[in-house]
Amino acid sequence: MRPVIRVTRGSISSSLTATIVYHPPTYFMNTESILKQRLLCIAVVDDPEAAVPLAEALLAGGLRTMEIPFRTAAAADSIKRIRRTLPEMAIGAGTLLAAEQVQRAVDAGAQFGVSPGLDESVLAAAHKNKIPFFPGVMTPTETGRALDLGWKYLKFFPAEAAGGVAMLKALAGPFAHTGVKFVPTGGINAANLPNYLALPQVAAIGGSWMAGRKLVAEKAWSKITALTAEAIKVISASPVKN
Ligand code: 3PG
Repeated sequence: MRPVIRVTRGSISSSLTATIVYHPPTYFMNTESILKQRLLCIAVVDDPEAAVPLAEALLAGGLRTMEIPFRTAAAADSIKRIRRTLPEMAIGAGTLLAAEQVQRAVDAGAQFGVSPGLDESVLAAAHKNKIPFFPGVMTPTETGRALDLGWKYLKFFPAEAAGGVAMLKALAGPFAHTGVKFVPTGGINAANLPNYLALPQVAAIGGSWMAGRKLVAEKAWSKITALTAEAIKVISASPVKN
């Protein structure tokens, strides 16, 4: 009798004997689930030993999505530790400036990627690895190009310096009908985030203020938890517009 291989999301089994359980590839984490809480904490980590306590501090504050930028030598190892230890945390890699970094991030276990700009070789690597990805844009030309390339969820960076809420409202004119969604990042904090979340084209906001580099270096876990809980509270009070 020929074995019948049945493939399901969690396992591969044959009608004869074996059931092979495998770990679902990272692309089972979709963009909507990553952005569900409408908040992405960006945390630069210098010491991989800090990664898990940092992620635990964010989880204690109620946040389940974070990005570790590839700006330090500790980034890949930090992602690996969080992925291995805290499956409830959606962990992404940021500041991906080269295709090779996308591959390293995925190999470390990153479930999504972010870049400050729009680099086609980086996007090709994200596509190849089937990870949700948020390329950075700041202008109408970049927004149009990202959409042409098939990317709909875009990091709007550097948000405050690039005109903030007023710029996003202006971009909505020619682009809202395309279904584009922005994740503004850069200069956002608990005070100004409701202004961003009031825009229907904003899917989520990103920021580092809950877990700034100094707070992480000082192991200020309870402070990070408190800032995260405050951010979650502000977001909960902001009506969902998109
Ligand atoms: C980033 O690192 O992607 C953003 O610059 C974060 O901006 P912020 O530090 O102003 O939150």
